[in-house]
Parts: sequence; structure tokens; C-alpha cells
Amino acid sequence: MGAVEVERLDRLNAETLEELVGIYMRGYEGLREYGGEGEGYAKRYLRWCWSKARDGFFVARVNGELAGFIVCDRDWYSKYEGRIVGAIHEFVVDRGFQGHGIGRILMEKGLDYLSRYTDRVELWVGEKNRGAIEFYESYGFRRVGQSGIWVRMVRDLHAKPDKPLGED
Ligand code: ACO
Repeated sequence: MGAVEVERLDRLNAETLEELVGIYMRGYEGLREYGGEGEGYAKRYLRWCWSKARDGFFVARVNGELAGFIVCDRDWYSKYEGRIVGAIHEFVVDRGFQGHGIGRILMEKGLDYLSRYTDRVELWVGEKNRGAIEFYESYGFRRVGQSGIWVRMVRDLHAKPDKPLGED
């Protein structure tokens, strides 16, 4: 595998959206309950992610090819926390690229970004998605609740608000 580059997505045009939908659909193969429900849904959902958190929408490329993405929202009102926290709305690596450390690189980028703005991050993950749950636990996320098939996990960050908003 070539070098992995992570960068903020600069725009979501139709072509990029198609590529991201493909990654999302393939990435969740075997986990349909939790993602990749259908291309129409995926498009709407990824557009929603873009509208909510374009500042924290990071993509990984391998030899220029999109291989995965993470969507980090620094301004998310959590009704469970009763305040604004950070949130990871989506995190997926294309099936053929999984298991090569790309997820770790994306997660490091996402946490570094969020730690500039917030001291807590929440995310929701499917209850049977053991691989992802263990991955999150290895980053210090802990399970704090469940709603239906979704497990809520949070992690505290040491906020380092060393940069004005939007400057990273
Ligand atoms: N099963 C077991 N272990 C796993 C899995 C898995 N499914 N995924 C990652 N790991 C472990 C690896 O063994 C590795 O451990 P190591 O570094 O000690 O060897 C570690 O996690 C990191 O692995 P990476 O190769 O960096 O992870 P990858 O590039 O595969 O990305 C991800 C991880 C994003 C979870 C990917 O497997 C994926 O896209 N899964 C399907 C979609 C998904 O479940 N996304 C998360 C949903 S929750 C949400 O979006 C908020």
C-alpha cells in the first residue's frame, strides 16, 4: 500500500459524493444494520454530514485514491450531555483498505482537530460492531449508554484551544 495522506475535504461535488457513497456502502458490508442501508440514504446522510461539519470532514487518500473518511463535528448539541460537545458522526474505511492503519491515522487527525474546540466527544456505534467498539476503546472511549441497537460512547479530551476557530 502507498503512503496515506489525510486532508480536509475541500468541497463535496457530485463526483466526490459518489466516491464517498461507494466507500460507505463497501465499508459497511457485513454490518448493514448500522450503515450502507442504500445509496439514496447514504447520499442524504453524507450531505447532512457535510452541512453539519464540513470543517471537520477529513478524507484519507492512498496514491490519490479516496480510501476512507471521518466526520468530526466540533459544535454538536448532545441532549445526553445537556451541552455542546464534539461528535464523530461517521467514520469508515473502504473495505479493501481496512486493517492497514488508515482508521488510526484518520482517528488521530479527528481527535487532534476536536481537542482544539471541546473537552468531550461522543459517538454512536452499533451494538454488535465489536471491531469498531474495541477500536474506540483503544482510544479511551467508554460506553456510557444505549438506545435501541446503538451504543453511546464518550471520550474526554484535554482541550487545547490554541488556535482560533477554523485555522487548522
Ligand atoms: N475488527 C477487529 N479489529 C479491528 C476492526 C474490526 N472490524 N477494525 C479495526 N480493528 C483494529 C485493528 O486490529 C487495529 O488494531 P492494531 O492497531 O492493534 O493492530 C486497529 O483497530 C486499527 O486498525 P486500522 O487498520 O487503523 O483500522 P481500519 O483502517 O480498518 O479502520 C474502521 C477502522 C473505520 C472501524 C473500519 O474497520 C471500518 O470502516 N469499519 C466499518 C465501518 C464502521 O464500523 N465504522 C464505525 C462506525 S461508528 C461511527 O461511525 C461513529
